[in-house]
Parts: sequence; C-alpha cells; structure tokens
Amino acid sequence: MKHSNTEACIFLWLIVLLLVLGAVPGWAAGVANTKHNLSVSGPGDIVAVSERRICIFCHTPHHASPVQPLWSHEMSGASYNLYASTTLSAQPGQPTGASRLCLSCHDGTVALGLLHGAATPLPMAGGIVTLPSGRSSNLQTDLSDDHPVSFSYTASLAATNGELRDPSTLPPAVKLENGDLLQCTSCHNPHKDPYGNFLVMSNTGAALCLACHQKTGWTVSVHATASGVADQGCNACHVPHNAGGSQRLLKTEMEEETCFPCHDEAGSEIDVKTDFNKFHHHPVEAKTGVHDPLEDPLSASSHVECSDCHNPHRITVEAATPPQVSGPLKGVKGVTINGLVVDKADNQYEICFRCHADNSFSPVVAVPRQIQEVNERLRFDPANPAFHPVATVGRNPSVPSLRPEYSPASMIYCSDCHNSDSGSMVGGAGADGVHGSSNPHLLAARYEQDAYPLSYSESNYALCFRCHDPGILFSSLSNFPSHWRHVQRFGASCSLCHDPHGVPVLGGATTTSNAHLINFDTRFVTGSYDSGGRSCTVSCHQRNPRRY
Ligand code: HEC
Ligand code: HEC
Ligand code: HEC
Ligand code: HEC
Ligand code: HEC
Ligand code: HEC
Ligand code: HEC
Ligand code: HEC
Ligand code: HEC
Ligand code: HEC
Ligand code: HEC
Repeated sequence: MKHSNTEACIFLWLIVLLLVLGAVPGWAAGVANTKHNLSVSGPGDIVAVSERRICIFCHTPHHASPVQPLWSHEMSGASYNLYASTTLSAQPGQPTGASRLCLSCHDGTVALGLLHGAATPLPMAGGIVTLPSGRSSNLQTDLSDDHPVSFSYTASLAATNGELRDPSTLPPAVKLENGDLLQCTSCHNPHKDPYGNFLVMSNTGAALCLACHQKTGWTVSVHATASGVADQGCNACHVPHNAGGSQRLLKTEMEEETCFPCHDEAGSEIDVKTDFNKFHHHPVEAKTGVHDPLEDPLSASSHVECSDCHNPHRITVEAATPPQVSGPLKGVKGVTINGLVVDKADNQYEICFRCHADNSFSPVVAVPRQIQEVNERLRFDPANPAFHPVATVGRNPSVPSLRPEYSPASMIYCSDCHNSDSGSMVGGAGADGVHGSSNPHLLAARYEQDAYPLSYSESNYALCFRCHDPGILFSSLSNFPSHWRHVQRFGASCSLCHDPHGVPVLGGATTTSNAHLINFDTRFVTGSYDSGGRSCTVSCHQRNPRRY
C-alpha cells in the first residue's frame, strides 16, 4: 500500500478499531453471510470447529504479520507457474500485494486456520486443513490456467493490446492496486458477495470482462446477442480460472471442444459436428495447440481449427455476395490473390489461400493432370487462360449452359463447390460450411472422376449441374456440341477434360491448349487441345486431330 507514514498510521488504527469492535456494519455484516466467514457461524461448508471471530482468519490487531492490512493469515512460500501466451503484452511476475493475500489460502498449500506466529492451525470442521484438492476454489500453485494478475495495467498496455479500455476509464467498482496493478481484488471483493463469487460487479452478459476488454466487433456479434448465449458472455468459451486450454483461458484444451457443446447434435445451436464426423472433413481434431492467432500464414505448420476460419468475437449472420466474406467469416486473416498476408480477409478465398496456396497443407493434387499445381492461388490467377470466377470474373463471355441465376459476369465462392453435402445450399436440413462432406474433397454434391468409361447418370455430375444446365450442355446450344457424345455415350467424366479450378499460366498453360478449363486427366488421356482450331489430338481418338 502506497501511503505516507502518517496516512498509513491513521489507516492502520482505523482497521485496528474496526477489528476490535468486530461488528462494524459494512465489513462485518458483509463478510458474515459469505463463505469468507470461516468462523463456526459461517454459511459455507468450510468453517472452524469452535472459533467465533470472523476477521481473525485474515486480520488481527495483535501479532499481525508484517504484511498489510494487519494480515493474520500465514503467507504461502510457494513459487507459482505464471500465465503465459503468445498474444499477451503484459508481463505478469510472481504474485504481489493483495493477490498474495488471497493465495495464502487459495493456492491450497497453507492450512486455512494457520495464523502468523501460531504453532498449530485453528481446527476446521470435518478435519479440513488446507483447501481440499479437487475443489475449484483451490487454484493451486499453477496459475498458468488463471487470468493473469500482478502486472501494471497502464494506458500504454491498453494501446499496445488495442482491445483494452484505457485504465482511467474503468467503472468505479473495478480497482487497480496503487492505481495500476491488476490483482485478484480488481475482480473480487473478499468482504462482500452480492453477485456471487465475491465479484466486484455482476458478470452477466460479460459486464465485468467488458469493464476492461473491448473486443472489436463483439457488441454486435451473435455470441454477444443471441438468446441462450448472450448472458454467458465471454464465459461461453473462456473461464477466468482452471482453464482447460491454458493459453487464452479457453474452456478446453482441444480448441474445437470449446465450440462443440453448443454446436453439436446434442447442443442447442446449429450442429456442425455432424459434418466434422463425416469421412471427408477439415481435420480440426488432428492437432492441438498448433494454431496461434499470431501465426504467419506463409510459414505456419499444417493444422486447421475453428478459429482459422471464424473469429469467435466478430461472427454475425450477415449474408454477402461472392467473393466477399459473409458475417460468420469476418475478421479472419487471409492471403490475397497476389500472395500478400492481410489481417482481415475481405474475400472468402483469401481465408482458404492461407493453407491451400503458397503454404499448402494438401501436398498433392487430387487428380493427376497435364499441368499440376498445389498452389490454389496460382490456379485461380486472373492471368490464366481459364479459371472458375472465384478471384475475378471469368474469361469466357459466352457460357450458354449457365443457369439463369448465373452469367459470365458472375463470381462464385470456393464454398459453392466445397461445402457440406447436407447443408441448405444443396437443399439439406444440416449446417452449411466447409466443414465436412460424405463426398471426396469436401465437395457439396457428387462428382464422379475416378473411372472411365462410366455409364452416365445425371447424379454423377450433380456438382456441376447446380450451375450448368445439362439440358443446354448436352444440346447443340453448347459451345462443345460433342458433350453429349463424350459424357453420355462414351462415359467420360467432365473431369477427364476439365480442371475445376483453373490452369496456371505459371505452370505453362496457354490460351491454345488450356482455354475453357481444358487440362486432361492423365490417367485416361494424353494429347493436346487446340482451342483456336477447335480440335483435339488425343490418345482416345483413332483419327487425329478431331475437329468439333
Ligand atoms: C477471507 C479473508 C478476509 C476476511 C475474513 C476479512 N478480510 Fe478484510 N481484507 C482482506 C483482504 C485480502 C484485504 C486487502 C484488500 C485490498 O488490498 O484491496 C482486506 C482489507 C481490509 C481492510 C482495508 C480496507 C479495504 O477494504 O481494502 C479493512 C478495513 C478490512 N479488511 C476489514 C475487515 C474486517 C472488519 C473483517 C471482519 C469483519 C475482515 N476485513 C475480514 C481479507 C479479509
Ligand atoms: C483465510 C483463507 C482465505 C483467504 C485469505 C481468502 N479466501 Fe477466498 N475462500 C476461502 C474459503 C475457505 C472459501 C470457500 C471454498 C469452498 O467452499 O470451496 C473461499 C471462497 C472463495 C471464493 C468462492 C466463493 C463461492 O461462492 O464459491 C472466491 C471467489 C474467493 N474465495 C476469492 C478470494 C479472494 C479474491 C481472496 C483475496 C482477496 C480470498 N478469497 C482470500 C478462504 C480464503
Ligand atoms: C479478471 C477478473 C478476475 C481476476 C483477476 C481473478 N478472478 Fe477469480 N473469478 C473471476 C470470475 C469472473 C469468477 C467466476 C467464475 C465463473 O463464473 O465461472 C471467479 C471465480 C473465482 C473463484 C471461485 C472458483 C472458480 O473457479 O469458479 C475463486 C476461488 C477465485 N476466483 C479466486 C481468485 C484469486 C485467488 C485470484 C487472484 C489470484 C482471482 N480469483 C483473480 C474473475 C477473476
Ligand atoms: C480489471 C480489468 C480486467 C478484467 C475485469 C478482465 N480482464 Fe482479462 N485481461 C486484462 C488485461 C489488462 C490483460 C492483459 C492483456 C495483454 O497483456 O495484452 C488481460 C488478459 C486476458 C486474457 C489473456 C489474453 C492473451 O492474449 O493471452 C484473457 C483470455 C482474458 N483477459 C479474458 C478475460 C475474461 C474472460 C474476463 C472476464 C471474466 C476478463 N478477462 C476480465 C484486464 C482485465
Ligand atoms: C464463442 C467463443 C468465444 C467467446 C464468446 C469469447 N471468446 Fe475470446 N477467444 C475465443 C477463442 C477460440 C480464442 C482464441 C483465438 C485463436 O486462437 O485464434 C479467443 C481469444 C481471446 C483473447 C486473446 C487475444 C485474441 O483475441 O486472440 C482474449 C483477450 C479474449 N479472447 C477475450 C474475450 C473476451 C473479453 C470475451 C467476451 C467479451 C470473449 N473473449 C468471448 C473464443 C471466444
Ligand atoms: C454457449 C454456446 C455456444 C458456444 C460455446 C459457441 N457458440 Fe457459436 N453460436 C451460439 C449461438 C446461440 C449462436 C447464434 C444462434 C445461431 O445462429 O444458432 C451461435 C452462432 C455461431 C455462428 C454463426 C451461425 C450463423 O447463423 O451463421 C458461428 C460461425 C459460430 N457460432 C461459431 C462458433 C465457434 C467457432 C465457437 C467456438 C470458438 C462457438 N461458436 C461456440 C452458441 C455458442
Ligand atoms: C488453417 C488452415 C486451413 C484453412 C484456412 C483452410 N483449410 Fe482446407 N484443409 C486444411 C487441412 C490441414 C486439410 C487436410 C489436408 C490433408 O489431409 O491432406 C484441408 C483439406 C481441404 C480439402 C480436402 C482436400 C482433399 O483433396 O481431400 C479441401 C477441398 C479444402 N481443404 C478446402 C478449403 C477451402 C475451400 C477453404 C476456405 C474456405 C479452406 N480449405 C481453408 C487446412 C485449411
Ligand atoms: C467449380 C467447383 C470448384 C470451385 C469453385 C473450387 N473447387 Fe476446389 N476442387 C473442386 C474439385 C472438383 C476438386 C477435385 C480435384 C479435381 O477435380 O481436380 C477440387 C479439389 C480441391 C482441393 C484438393 C487438392 C487439389 O487441388 O486437387 C483443394 C485443396 C481445393 N479444391 C481447394 C479449393 C479452394 C481453396 C477453392 C477456392 C479458392 C476451390 N477449391 C474452389 C472443385 C472446386
Ligand atoms: C456455383 C456455380 C458453378 C459450379 C458449381 C460450376 N460452375 Fe462452371 N462456371 C460457372 C460460371 C459462373 C462460369 C462462367 C465463367 C466465365 O464466364 O468464364 C463457369 C464456366 C465454366 C466453364 C467454361 C470456362 C471457360 O473459360 O470457357 C467450364 C468448362 C465449366 N464451368 C465447367 C464446370 C465443371 C466441370 C463443373 C463441375 C465440376 C462446374 N463448372 C461447376 C459456375 C459454376
Ligand atoms: C476451413 C474453414 C472452416 C473451418 C475450419 C470451420 N468453419 Fe465453420 N464455416 C465455414 C464456412 C465457409 C461457413 C459458411 C459461411 C457462409 O455461409 O458464408 C461456415 C459456417 C459455420 C456455421 C454456420 C452454419 C450455418 O448453417 O449457418 C457455424 C455454426 C460454424 N461454421 C461453426 C464452426 C465450428 C464450431 C468450427 C470448428 C469445429 C468451424 N465452423 C470450423 C468455414 C469453416
Ligand atoms: C471430351 C472432353 C470434354 C468433356 C468430357 C466435357 N467437356 Fe465441357 N467442354 C469441352 C470443350 C473442348 C469445351 C470448349 C468448347 C469451346 O468453347 O470451343 C467445353 C466447354 C464447356 C463449357 C462452356 C461452354 C458451355 O456450353 O457452357 C462448360 C460449362 C462445360 N464444358 C462443362 C462440362 C461439364 C459439366 C462436363 C461434364 C458433364 C463436361 N463439360 C465434359 C470438353 C469437354
């Protein structure tokens, strides 16, 4: 406590007076009805066998330890494991000040009734000595899973962090020791318990957390506003103590398990777990503790977590048009079509490019083609002779097969092809999202590509027919009137001739050989295409070149 000598003296005498009188309305009445009344009259299940004084467990006017305010409880000699994380700017040290007072009981190493200078502890009912292990009130000496304490919370820390209130604007109930130290007592008042857990203010709707934290986008996000979750506030995913995932105080160690209790088949909210249980899925369960919000997308090692695609603090339900990110994907890092890292992806594909472009986590292409490229950024490059219009509008002004909702001026999402096969996008009742599918490569609908010849059925190419009308494609209206013959009569998959993404100019694609997404599947065809001459010279034909 930072007081001048005279001030300190008056202050101590005030406490002595209070302690001697014992029954001063403010403190005494407050403490008496709380679990901090450890005397025989206390309401909790941890109480003394016979001791009647309330304040004595923490303060005494006589034989106090040198610790203020007239502290009576024996201090702990423990050395603590501290909270640490890559995103923390503060530098918490070993606990100091009021935090050490709390830990003299709450680290579970010192007998609850052991007073400074006493040989034996005051006996507690039920033979309890220290805080029983296994109780959540026993924080233990490992504080790495607890909200950081005993550091300076200053205006400059708030500025460095960027999502904290300036400490001079804290609500009056929230106090910093000596004006700057964040301690247990910033959130708790050991003498009063009107809000539960000795909190200094109610934490319903995250009120206490928001006294200091200002997470960008939070106030309008679904997790802050939707009924069923709004009241829980930050505690829907975080806990201030005994966190399963120590770093960033998440409820569970496995990141996705923090989300599943609400977002699984038994949870009250949209069920996405069903999709993650499908054979083909983004493997969120495969790695734990690899994802880091500060990671450099260009060098991160292989992993994927919910927070890679969703920013849990900023999710809204806003819809968007391609290529822009929709509400659920707002505020997530990305890599642009030019390969630059951005903090907030504007376009959906930029999120995917973090892990499927220059730093590719799927090391092989699914279908061996004449020109192969695992870097999806290069496959959707606007300089290519052909590409599906994901990063910019397509190159072909005449695509007669497009259904009326689409035109050559349209753009589409990666998630128009890669999505749940039971979501609303494909007419199902399940959740949407690039989470999982029973189809290979997380495709939203069926797309047969591994057999030739394959007897025709419209459902084999359901993926393409979502946007391309087979009635036109297999008629003379198509720019390739021979579609019907190849696909229906000879049993060729679209994939035998077409690349679904784009053919990279950097891989050698030309407007002669690779226009119209032509990039043959080398398991079934070798040869070449000439878009100018409208002909093919390929292994399947007995006579070459064949014109169309
Ligand atoms: C479970 C422990 C505990 C009990 C019981 C307890 N106190 Fe305290 N008291 C504390 C702690 C810890 C502080 C230091 C708070 C701080 O630094 O903000 C404190 C501080 C004080 C202060 C200094 C002013 C303040 O509020 O910071 C007074 C006065 C005081 N206590 C009076 C009492 C009285 C009177 C009783 C009995 C009716 C009592 N306390 C019971 C833990 C306790
Ligand atoms: C003299 C020992 C002692 C000291 C010092 C002490 N506590 Fe406690 N505290 C207890 C005991 C005993 C309980 C009851 C634990 C239980 O029931 O599991 C308790 C319970 C609590 C609870 C849980 C209340 C609830 O409703 O479950 C909180 C929060 C708490 N203390 C915070 C603090 C803080 C913060 C400080 C320091 C400002 C502090 N305590 C100092 C002994 C102490
Ligand atoms: C940033 C705010 C904050 C700080 C700092 C903080 N706590 Fe807490 N604490 C809380 C909240 C909020 C709860 C209620 C948790 C809940 O509702 O699940 C809580 C609960 C508790 C409990 C009850 C057991 C439990 O896990 O629910 C104890 C005991 C406790 N705190 C002790 C401490 C001690 C000791 C310190 C300092 C070492 C401390 N707290 C620092 C916010 C804080
Ligand atoms: C008294 C102010 C205050 C309150 C109240 C508070 N915090 Fe904090 N919290 C901070 C400060 C300051 C930091 C350190 C930030 C930094 O170093 O960048 C922090 C750090 C954290 C961290 C670790 C961040 C990281 O990057 O590792 C988490 C998680 C967190 N708080 C969650 C919560 C939650 C949840 C609540 C509500 C139960 C809460 N806080 C209440 C001030 C507060
Ligand atoms: C829907 C779940 C969820 C809710 C609700 C939530 N968080 Fe988080 N929070 C997370 C996850 C997950 C991370 C880790 C992000 C990552 O690893 O990329 C995180 C990270 C953080 C961090 C570390 C810095 C950062 O942003 O990465 C802080 C601080 C934090 N949250 C504070 C809060 C506060 C304060 C609230 C309430 C206002 C809150 N969170 C609500 C899930 C949530
Ligand atoms: C305590 C329950 C709870 C937890 C835990 C939770 N959510 Fe939610 N989530 C909700 C509620 C409620 C909504 C809004 C209602 C709805 O749309 O179902 C929601 C909505 C969402 C949405 C937007 C859905 C839409 O309509 O577009 C996404 C995305 C989401 N959550 C992701 C996450 C992620 C990622 C996590 C873990 C970091 C998580 N949630 C943890 C309850 C939860
Ligand atoms: C944080 C990294 C990450 C992000 C972001 C990401 N993915 Fe993935 N993706 C992976 C990992 C890891 C795998 C599994 C790779 C493996 O097992 O070969 C995968 C697998 C896939 C597969 C299956 C590949 C196959 O042949 O079966 C597809 C398709 C896919 N992702 C599409 C997307 C799309 C579309 C997006 C953007 C909406 C996206 N991914 C965002 C990491 C990511
Ligand atoms: C028009 C539909 C369509 C669109 C749009 C689409 N994909 Fe694909 N994707 C496929 C198909 C079909 C495959 C299966 C492999 C093949 O046919 O070459 C595939 C395969 C993949 C694979 C597996 C590795 C590989 O290249 O074979 C990844 C990763 C992938 N896509 C990511 C993406 C990303 C990222 C986007 C957006 C930037 C995207 N896809 C857009 C249809 C599409
Ligand atoms: C979400 C809608 C959508 C889906 C699904 C889709 N396409 Fe397309 N496709 C388009 C649009 C829009 C264009 C127009 C691009 C342009 O004008 O260059 C296009 C153009 C094409 C072109 C002509 C490209 C050119 O440069 O001439 C081919 C070939 C093609 N798609 C094949 C496929 C195949 C094969 C599938 C199934 C794997 C498929 N498409 C799935 C929307 C889609
Ligand atoms: C590879 C990226 C990726 C990962 C990883 C991912 N999501 Fe999603 N998620 C999406 C996309 C894309 C959408 C659809 C957004 C849209 O409709 O624009 C989505 C949508 C959602 C929705 C809303 C579904 C609906 O029907 O409205 C929820 C809820 C959700 N995700 C939760 C999660 C949870 C929880 C996790 C982790 C277990 C997770 N997501 C992991 C990309 C991802
Ligand atoms: C034997 C090779 C081959 C197969 C198999 C094939 N295509 Fe094509 N397709 C072409 C060629 C060549 C063109 C370019 C015609 C032109 O513009 O000169 C083309 C053009 C297109 C176009 C743009 C013109 C239009 O009619 O809209 C679409 C879309 C298309 N194909 C979709 C498909 C789909 C879907 C399948 C599978 C059901 C498929 N193709 C199967 C060779 C093939």
